[in-house]
Amino acid sequence: MKQGSVIVRGVGSYLPRKILTNHELALMVDTSDEWIRTRTGISQRHIADTHEACSDLAYMAAKNALADAHLQTEDVDLLIVSTITPDMIFPSSAALLQAKLGLRNVMSFDINATCSGFLYALEVATHLLQNGKSYKCALVVGSEKLSSIVDWKDRSTCILFGDAAGAFILEYTPAEHVGILDSVLGADGSSPEKLYCGSLQPTTTITKHFMKMSGQEVFKNSIYWMRKAVEELLERNHLTKTDIACLIPHQANLRIIQSLAQSIGLPMDRVFCNLEVTGNTSSASIPIAFAQAKNSHYFHSGDNIILVAFGGGFTWGATLIKWP
Ligand code: UT7
Repeated sequence: MKQGSVIVRGVGSYLPRKILTNHELALMVDTSDEWIRTRTGISQRHIADTHEACSDLAYMAAKNALADAHLQTEDVDLLIVSTITPDMIFPSSAALLQAKLGLRNVMSFDINATCSGFLYALEVATHLLQNGKSYKCALVVGSEKLSSIVDWKDRSTCILFGDAAGAFILEYTPAEHVGILDSVLGADGSSPEKLYCGSLQPTTTITKHFMKMSGQEVFKNSIYWMRKAVEELLERNHLTKTDIACLIPHQANLRIIQSLAQSIGLPMDRVFCNLEVTGNTSSASIPIAFAQAKNSHYFHSGDNIILVAFGGGFTWGATLIKWP
């Protein structure tokens, strides 16, 4: 294994222009702005155009991340896209993005780990950069067009989700103990019916499927697994909650985030939230929140930042970053 670390060299995000407010949703299903804001903390979400696919959203976020890193496409030698809403079953959205960006013919592949997918992708990219002889710079993107799998007649889910993409440029550096330090990741696939998109029965044809969710079950599991992941991450890195300068959680529901912070014993002024304007964008949510936090100087050099996510599967993860 090489010495050195993997740092976040650049960040980028992209939110489609069209905004769908709670008030507009209340004209589509039996709900209200007040119910959505009180139960979720969300006021609006962005919705992609019909002609915009996952790889198009990813392209915009990737361009912004490359610009932020002051790098060119030829500098990238690994591409991973995390998504549950790929343009098509295959080719992967990563392969399509490779061509759209005009990258060299670098290894490009998708990861599907729902809302935890970006943290799974970071783990894979970090290990390849740290251990692989030929990788120095990775583009990791979380990109979702959730509006394409939302049932717009189901008020229990359609109020939650939005479309967006976020991207990191990761780079190997010989410096020690900075950047992405550690991750705790897990999965429990024993209750797929709690949150899924597809058929739970074997089918012979591919049909259009919508996302289905048992909200309260997901809510409870989400707090439980995210707390466990953060605690394990702190323990094995000999840190305590007072060492966390900034927690950037998956932006699913403000009540989930508040309960998580309370269970860890972290004040909310150390927890970054932007779901009010984005809604839940699944694997795009953490890189978008991170980009916004970075650009608003929410964290500083030397800070310990923890990213934490939970999603369908169930899957979960927590990642520790020391900001250089
Ligand atoms: O990204 C990871 C995956 N997703 C999540 O993390 C989401 C996790 N779950 C949640 O965020 C919450 O469970 C929801 C926001 C989905 C629902 O909030 P809740 O407080 O758990 O509400 P509930 O499902 O217990 O429903 C309470 C009531 C029900 O009516 P009754 O049975 O009490 O008469 C629902 O029918 O609210 C009703 N309801 C609504 N009312 C107005 C459900 N959706 C709506 C709605 N507007 N949009």
